[in-house]
Amino acid sequence: MSNHALENAAQAIRQSRCTMSFTGAGISVESGIPPFRGPGGVWSKYDPGKFEKAYFKRHPKEVWPLLKKVFYDLLDDAEPNAAHYALAELEAAGKLAGVVTQNIDSLHQAAGSATVHEYHGSIRRMQCMSCRIFFDANAISLERLPPPCPACGGLLKPDFIFFGEGIPTDVHRAATDLAKQADVCLVVGTGGQVMPAGRIPYIVKNRGGTVIEINLHDSDYSYTLSDYYLQGKAGVRLPELVRAVLG
Ligand code: APR
Repeated sequence: MSNHALENAAQAIRQSRCTMSFTGAGISVESGIPPFRGPGGVWSKYDPGKFEKAYFKRHPKEVWPLLKKVFYDLLDDAEPNAAHYALAELEAAGKLAGVVTQNIDSLHQAAGSATVHEYHGSIRRMQCMSCRIFFDANAISLERLPPPCPACGGLLKPDFIFFGEGIPTDVHRAATDLAKQADVCLVVGTGGQVMPAGRIPYIVKNRGGTVIEINLHDSDYSYTLSDYYLQGKAGVRLPELVRAVLG
């Protein structure tokens, strides 16, 4: 891969007033979590229609075992990888203002990132659809499915966005505010195919900012949005980039 792109990308971050990162499933693949699309992707094995909020409410007994299999069983012992740690290091060095992630695995926080906006929510919380109380997912046993709400016995839902569900306004506002302040957006491991999340890097670009993309394959962003495209695994290219920035 051309070091020219790497050096120019590193210089853009060194010279930036405010760099943010926008991440997707690709940054967690090297932590053992499959992506949604592409070879071996979740949606090549499971029907995304089952994960629509309306379908879930009508068929909780069918969907909860899928949620356990696709998310809870996989994420339980997932660890951050070198890419997550590289972003945490860049933030600790004062060169990254924060991360907007589409991921629900909370691996950015586990790696030490302090400012993380979970645009699609998090698997770490559940909410009762009757009494609306939130619970730490670790406190809810998945032996019996659907797990009953400890407070009222109602239907618990993981606190991440299902298809057909809106983005909570507070996290949408925090994420877009960060993008409006940023003059560099470091896009890692996402094809930007899901909206409104996929628009985040365009907020930076449309205000004259620079977009750096790290992806295993070229994406919809690569030929329209990205100023620098660093091809390869996030766990390899992102630490390289951070070393080039911090020296
Ligand atoms: N390193 C870097 N990029 C990778 C790697 C890797 N090791 N492995 C895969 N990728 C890239 C793929 O090339 C692809 O562009 O990560 C991206 C994964 O794409 P998706 O699976 O579509 O993930 P994402 O873009 O985060 O999906 C967005 O879709 O289903 C919804 O809510 C779900 O948050 C998710 C949203």
